[in-house]
Amino acid sequence: MDLSLVVPTYNEKENIEKLLNKIFKEFKEHKIRGEVIVVDDGSPDNTGNLVENLRKKHKNLKVIHRKGKLGLSSAVLEGWRMAKSEILGVMDADLSHPPKKIKELFWAIEKGEADFTIGSRHIKGGRIEGWNLKRKLLSKTATLLARIYTNVKDPMTGFFMIKKECIKDVKLNPKGFKILLEIIMKGKHKKIKEIPIIFINRVEGKSKAGIKEIFSYLQNLMEYLPYKKNVIKEFFKFAFVGLIGTIVNLVILYSFTEFLKIYYMISAVAAFVVAATSNFILNKIWTFKEEMKHEFLGKYIKFFFVSVVALIINLLFLYLFTEFLGIYYIISQVLAIGVALIINFLGNKLWTFKK
Ligand code: GDD
Ligand code: MN
Repeated sequence: MDLSLVVPTYNEKENIEKLLNKIFKEFKEHKIRGEVIVVDDGSPDNTGNLVENLRKKHKNLKVIHRKGKLGLSSAVLEGWRMAKSEILGVMDADLSHPPKKIKELFWAIEKGEADFTIGSRHIKGGRIEGWNLKRKLLSKTATLLARIYTNVKDPMTGFFMIKKECIKDVKLNPKGFKILLEIIMKGKHKKIKEIPIIFINRVEGKSKAGIKEIFSYLQNLMEYLPYKKNVIKEFFKFAFVGLIGTIVNLVILYSFTEFLKIYYMISAVAAFVVAATSNFILNKIWTFKEEMKHEFLGKYIKFFFVSVVALIINLLFLYLFTEFLGIYYIISQVLAIGVALIINFLGNKLWTFKK
């Protein structure tokens, strides 16, 4: 066996037969010795039985029947545990992922170009079709947040393949939807290759992603922090630079007003500009370790913009905490600065100084 492809299912009776036909046709046409392992979570629509019957037609088809809806990620891992081959893969059952791309993901590993291949919607040639604005925004935000940890352009995709040895003895947390990010973070892979795919929103059935998946995703992101000590280090450097900036601000305000006899409101504006500039330079060369010259002006403008947005957020939270939660305004401000600091850091890390 060359390839073990897991297809997790929950209520996919309208899709699964069509998908399996296409997959096995691909296997045959391109001489891939592949097996498909469907992991069904006791679908109330009887997807499980349907697939069981299809085993008469497809001899390399297996089914795992689980008791109830235990989650996408754990289904994938459970399927892989049965896998006979050294290359593991996964794709959705709802025809959103193009079976025609199986061969490309597979060959890249087979030929040794990579040990981990990802069907990517966010590189040239890839895209998403048929999503509404809300779903697009959610996905964009999730993808952006994942950039804290990885340069993979589509760490949210549900279509990928990996060499078995890369996850051997790796403890994976099978919560939620985002098994791919989990593997990117913890796997022992050496070379990732992204291959463009066009994701087409399902025509039949309903998506199972919900608010629960969003929370478990945020929880996952927090849990990854210890894996990237570097991010924590950058955050503390960034906060420290902010502290220096505050001191610079006060010193300029004082000296312009007292020694240069400038009107204090004007001094305050000058102090803001000087402090933002010194913050920018320190963050550029010290926190995020860039060359001073590299896109100086463009980044300076971005940095300034993020600073202003963070200031607005600061004021907003100061107001909310004080007026609506009845917190003493100085305490509110301490909390609001915390919120603004995180936004400021993320804005600059993921946008101004993105790698
Ligand atoms: N066994 C099992 N158990 N399968 C599940 C479960 C579960 O609890 N939840 C979902 N599935 C199956 C579905 O039947 C489908 O085959 C596949 O997992 C993806 O679920 P969808 O409900 O179609 O998810 P989606 O289209 O909203 O999200 C897809 O795209 C995202 C990228 O934008 C998935 O591929 C996500 O993993 C991916 O992040
Ligand atoms: Mn889907």
